[in-house]
Amino acid sequence: MTEAPFLHPTAAIEPGAQVGAGTKIWHHSHVRRGSVIGTGCTLGKNVFVDEGVRIGDRVKIQNNVSVYRGVEIGDEVFVGPSAVFTNDLRPRAGNANWQVRPTRVLRGASIGANATIVCGIEIGEHGMVGAGAVVTATVRPHQLVVGNPARHHGWVCACGEVLSRSAAQPGGTRCQDCDRQADPVPVHEPGPPAYIPLAKVELGTAEEAAVLDVLRSGMLSGGPKVAEFEEAFARLHGTAHAVAVSSGTAALVAALRAHGIGPGDEVITSPLTFAATLNAILQVGATARFCDVAGDFTLDPGQLEPLLTPRTRAVLPVHLYGLPAAMDAVSGLADRHGLAVIQDAAQAHGARVGVRPVGSFGTATYSLYATKNITCGEGGVVTTDDGDIAERIRLLRNQGMRERYEYVMSGSNYRLTDLQAAIATVQLTRLPQINENRARNAARLSAASPVCPA
Ligand SMILES: Cc1ncc(COP(=O)(O)O)c(C=O)c1O
Repeated sequence: MTEAPFLHPTAAIEPGAQVGAGTKIWHHSHVRRGSVIGTGCTLGKNVFVDEGVRIGDRVKIQNNVSVYRGVEIGDEVFVGPSAVFTNDLRPRAGNANWQVRPTRVLRGASIGANATIVCGIEIGEHGMVGAGAVVTATVRPHQLVVGNPARHHGWVCACGEVLSRSAAQPGGTRCQDCDRQADPVPVHEPGPPAYIPLAKVELGTAEEAAVLDVLRSGMLSGGPKVAEFEEAFARLHGTAHAVAVSSGTAALVAALRAHGIGPGDEVITSPLTFAATLNAILQVGATARFCDVAGDFTLDPGQLEPLLTPRTRAVLPVHLYGLPAAMDAVSGLADRHGLAVIQDAAQAHGARVGVRPVGSFGTATYSLYATKNITCGEGGVVTTDDGDIAERIRLLRNQGMRERYEYVMSGSNYRLTDLQAAIATVQLTRLPQINENRARNAARLSAASPVCPA
């Protein structure tokens, strides 16, 4: 028989909160709706668990801790008394549009009393944060950090014993005691995966909470979430407009159509890309002309000029794998010849050429498909500084309709739903960290690869 949770009579557990078997929640704690607390946990006195928070099994949270929306706590985590989590990186009392920055505390990690965990980071498995530390950067698995700002102070075993004070991680992550007590059967340490996954989707409780909000609002499409996402996307990409659509392919088609490109027109693009780039050009009835790539695998501006004909209307460079094409040269040539620049930035959210975001070089299209830097399953965005182009894309995505039942051009259904936009808005807050991780992984792979030097 499973043991029912113990809820102290002074604890407030809102309807819709889930509390697992055997969990104890003590005096004056408050657990909000939509949160999930696992089995066998202990929450001390005056603990606050915000809406949508997910707490694993056998977690111990001491008195006076607030676990705010966006914080995710794995199994067997310990949070000491009065430890503080934040979820807004630059809080201002008057900012109604602030964004949750997610924080993850992974299995077996410990956070000391009075520590402050600044949002947007991850505390790795069995990581340990010293009492009073102010953690501003990701803590690696088994790493011990202390101080303000928290700095590396060694490596710890899962039992808490310090293994080493050196900067380099020791070969093993278990102390002698734990080794002695270990099963005679060798412990299976997870080995390297058989293959390196192309992408890992980073979704957490903040996305779950955002989806729940939309579900409960009943406005699954045509609600306010798409405009919120567009505003945040444009701000982050330094463009005047961002228009959200249903896929990266739809973004390319809509951008080409908004620039008036159609049958009889030629578009110069890269032959080294995903099929969608070519398909979009063909879908609007234009002809694609391929310009070879340079050594960095993006369109070679030195080979563009001979490809121009009187029918050329646009250049469509692809920022492959997030690496921007040579945009100064491409947009210089396009300007001289009166061509539109439409960038396929499906894989390049947040990419910059020097200090300039790629979106500032003309029209750019992005994908929100599952393998992309940020995702909401399926989706796309077009960015531009040109108000007319933005307006045409808004019309194209909604059957050419300006006002209710006033159709001013032919269009289609390229709309993003509010459910998708809500996920994508949370994902945007993760983008700097995701891009940083991707760059770090790329550097490691390049350094280790004999055929692909950095
Ligand atoms: C370079 C490039 N262009 C366009 C697309 C199309 O995006 P979506 O799959 O969202 O339609 C992709 C997606 O894989 C891509 O990688």
